[in-house]
Amino acid sequence: MSGPRPCPVCVPDLLRMKQRGEKIAMLTAYDFPTARQVDAAGADIVLVGDSLGMVVLGYESTLPVTMDEMIHHTKAVVRGAQRALVVADMPYLSYHLSLRDAVRHAGRFVQEAGAKAVKVEGGRKRVRAIRAIRDAEIPVMGHVGLTPQSVHEFGGFKIQGKSAAAARNILDDALALEEAGVFSVVLEGIPAELAKMITERLTVPTVGIGAGVSCDGQVLVIHDLLGITEGHVPSFVRRYAEVGATVREACRHFVEDVRDGKFPSDVESSHLKGEVLEEVRGGLGPAAKRQWRS
Ligand code: KIV
Repeated sequence: MSGPRPCPVCVPDLLRMKQRGEKIAMLTAYDFPTARQVDAAGADIVLVGDSLGMVVLGYESTLPVTMDEMIHHTKAVVRGAQRALVVADMPYLSYHLSLRDAVRHAGRFVQEAGAKAVKVEGGRKRVRAIRAIRDAEIPVMGHVGLTPQSVHEFGGFKIQGKSAAAARNILDDALALEEAGVFSVVLEGIPAELAKMITERLTVPTVGIGAGVSCDGQVLVIHDLLGITEGHVPSFVRRYAEVGATVREACRHFVEDVRDGKFPSDVESSHLKGEVLEEVRGGLGPAAKRQWRS
């Protein structure tokens, strides 16, 4: 087992990691303290995913997430990540309408928020946008398979690429992304055999989520990994902690202590020195004095 490199991770490092057979660890983060923890834990990439919409902002899908929301959270993550490469997810409609829009929005992530790269969902139909963003010197990560921004087209968050034709289609999309110059491709929600095939054919590293063990790296949404997500959690998620339950229990304990007058205790309070207290009391009228005494 090798520990994390001390120097900041940059885009070419990821290609070298694939060549050396070193696995890439990517996690999402949406705020400063979480980015610090993820970074300190040695993750190579911190993704400010548009999953923000679902796990932090309470939307039912990623579709309502705006550029301004993404910029706000990316700035916080950049402040927290010292070593990991910060990649920002381009939200729905930020790269669909025109190439000019795509470049302008990608540029905001780099110039305003301090991200080092952006991620774009979709295969061959995104090639022109990816080329345009790269022409502006911004590294792009691709994302194929179960792309959450296509949820309505898929009829739900369902595993993709199960038929031979669908699998071939995803493979062709991944190859087209590499050709367009992405530095890495996220493979989400596809059969492990297909992910292996894609990983073996691409020169750039693949990062899987629900795509089996053969990808060059793995990513999880931090709220899923920490056990904060409630309700349905995809079967490919491993919950490494039950932070949601711990937080609820701590808050419940606080509420109980407040109601029972057990918080704060004397050590959690500060006190006036005796002479100061007397001086303050001395300056009060009789009614207030009575109140202070009681
Ligand atoms: O938005 C996100 O968090 C993602 C990852 C799941 C890859 O795109």
